[in-house]
Amino acid sequence: MVSRTIPVEPFKLVIFGATGDLSRRKILPALFRRFCAGQMPPEARVIGAARTELGTDGFRKLARSALGEFVPGSGGEAVEAFVGHLDYVAVDAVGDGGWSELAELTRGGAVSAFYFSVAPSLFGNLAERLKTHGIADRDSRLVVEKPFGRDLESARSLNATLAEHFDETQIYRIDHYLGKETVQNLMAVRFGNILFESLWSERYIDHVQITVAETVGVEGRGQYYDRAGAMRDMVQNHLMQLLCLIAMEPPFRFDSDAVRDEKLKVIRALEPLAPEDIVRGQYGGGEGLTSYREDAGVPDSATESYVALKVNIANWRWAGTPFYLRTGKRLKSRVSEIAVVFRRVPHSIFGGQTDNTPNVLTIRLQPDEGMNLRVTIKEPGPGGMRLVEVPLDMTFAEALGSAGEDIPDAYERLIMDVIRGNQTLFMRGDEVEAAWAWTDPVIAGWEERGDRPAPYDSYSTGPEEALMLLHREGRRWREID
Ligand code: BG6
Repeated sequence: MVSRTIPVEPFKLVIFGATGDLSRRKILPALFRRFCAGQMPPEARVIGAARTELGTDGFRKLARSALGEFVPGSGGEAVEAFVGHLDYVAVDAVGDGGWSELAELTRGGAVSAFYFSVAPSLFGNLAERLKTHGIADRDSRLVVEKPFGRDLESARSLNATLAEHFDETQIYRIDHYLGKETVQNLMAVRFGNILFESLWSERYIDHVQITVAETVGVEGRGQYYDRAGAMRDMVQNHLMQLLCLIAMEPPFRFDSDAVRDEKLKVIRALEPLAPEDIVRGQYGGGEGLTSYREDAGVPDSATESYVALKVNIANWRWAGTPFYLRTGKRLKSRVSEIAVVFRRVPHSIFGGQTDNTPNVLTIRLQPDEGMNLRVTIKEPGPGGMRLVEVPLDMTFAEALGSAGEDIPDAYERLIMDVIRGNQTLFMRGDEVEAAWAWTDPVIAGWEERGDRPAPYDSYSTGPEEALMLLHREGRRWREID
């Protein structure tokens, strides 16, 4: 199977914050990989913009070193050809410096896109200057990163600031989970097969588990993370998006507003979370291991590095089928998966000699992207009807041959979608606001009650309390391994 690369139109992409971490780790490597895949047209220019007086040579040097670090095996002619597409201009986000040079560099008929890889407090300044200097027009695109606000109020105010200068159809809010190949596969699996839809409701699904477990701690990001916590950092965005893709109604078309309308309906149908349906945790240290508090540099921090939730969706399709969400840092292994646990057969005709195990459809997002369906079959051999559960297992890499081996990074897909003008995999302003409207009261409740997260051991499966969330209802979490 050969993967097809469809070149995009010539573009000029300006990266504000070009010398920063995201640009070095994700944006430049993603552009380089697309360049190597032949997707970047020869006329394309990538213009780095930041405060530092670096010059184009300095920026190219920075890009070479970033690619050396984050794209294993890169080097030689390909890197040299790629850096030939790079320019740089030092700009003052709050003053006038550099803007006329930037205007000069961006002049011309290509698609223009502006990537705001900077603190959200600068969004308004940048957006305004792009307009007053005549750099952005009605066809230009703006790319903004998470965190998009830290609550409903700040998200509203960011949306309002951007809306003063740009139309919603020009704004691309990144949630990099939506760019992950397997996350897109959720939609392909659900809406490209007739098999699932008739079973996809409270009638046949007992519950759903969404797990995003990480082994990393908050090393080096403590300052940001301690003000966010797992709820703001992961649930409000990434887990919420996964939940939406599993729970939404079929959109009438795979187009940006049709998909986002359906996701928004799911978020609006979420029931408020009850305190007993939430477990927060914080990782401890131990021999040779730093604790969360040490990593964050906040000795009495009450921020959660783990959260588990029981979420109910109040609509006809899902009433009575809980969605259990959990995410945490410093857990036993790195695994992101969605498990759809079906109901048991209503009556076992085999005389109860099996425990009537339910079917489980698991979609693994990372690592080993793939799907697994647990089914019951007869154990081979004579001696009566003994049943066993077996996995119907498929890793996408094996199933797709060479096309499945080199799964592109989320940023590759998302940046190319910006250039193509396709907003389907980006969050719309109302979606982000609805997600905050649901998370805000939960966080406010913790603050009011002075709630403290339960400790858990580093590299464990999380706090004991999270087990109870399911045990009390006769269910259990899937293993994290
Ligand atoms: C980011 C969070 O958005 O996603 C991080 O800020 C988290 O805390 C990361 O580690 C996880 O992304 P991935 O792609 O490694 O699963």
